Amino acid sequence: MKILLVDGTVFGRKTGAVLQQVEKYIQEYNKELQLELLYFSDLKHQILDGSPLNEDMQMMIKKFEDADGYVIASPIFQASIPGVLKNAFDMISPKAMRYKPVAMVANGGTYQHHLVIENQLKPILDYFRCLVTPNYVYTHSDHFDEKNNIIDTDVHDRLRELARVFVQYCEMSKGLCKEPVDTP
Ligand SMILES: Cc1cc2nc3c(=O)[nH]c(=O)nc-3n(C[C@H](O)[C@H](O)[C@H](O)COP(=O)(O)O)c2cc1C
Repeated sequence: MKILLVDGTVFGRKTGAVLQQVEKYIQEYNKELQLELLYFSDLKHQILDGSPLNEDMQMMIKKFEDADGYVIASPIFQASIPGVLKNAFDMISPKAMRYKPVAMVANGGTYQHHLVIENQLKPILDYFRCLVTPNYVYTHSDHFDEKNNIIDTDVHDRLRELARVFVQYCEMSKGLCKEPVDTP
């Protein structure tokens, strides 16, 4: 199975640091999964305004379509997910992620916005009919040292548990037919 790990930030390194830690824990639970990291900071983003899509956006859409599961890592911008991440979801076919497993992590500058992931990111993934794992992890600045290493042991435990459940969701999704019998 191909798993796409998406770092939705375009500025710093903390969201990516969390994602890399999740990658390590997933590998500990299942070495067979093919993990690929996609850093939004590497892409030339383009607003969905009806213009032809540039190469980076086409490549990003293809990676979403080809993947069998996802870990979405989002920074918190203005009490929400960043525009580039919402813009990416707007470009993806509603069928592309259907019945595929997804785990979510988010990083903010404060404690205040931990529910953004529950109230804003999860409903989008529910619309895509993803198999969203019941546990997610929210980190903030105090959980990191100056080199962006995660120094909070509870966060490590939560990320390990997230990875464990995600790997089980990957197994579950294998037996789930992706072709619906109802009218989408
Ligand atoms: C434009 C912008 C808006 C932000 N808004 C919020 C916010 O509303 N709440 C919050 O907790 N942190 C906010 N932050 C802090 C970021 O969430 C935090 O710096 C980011 O998650 C760090 O991750 P990174 O190092 O991967 O970029 C904001 C940062 C930026 C750049």
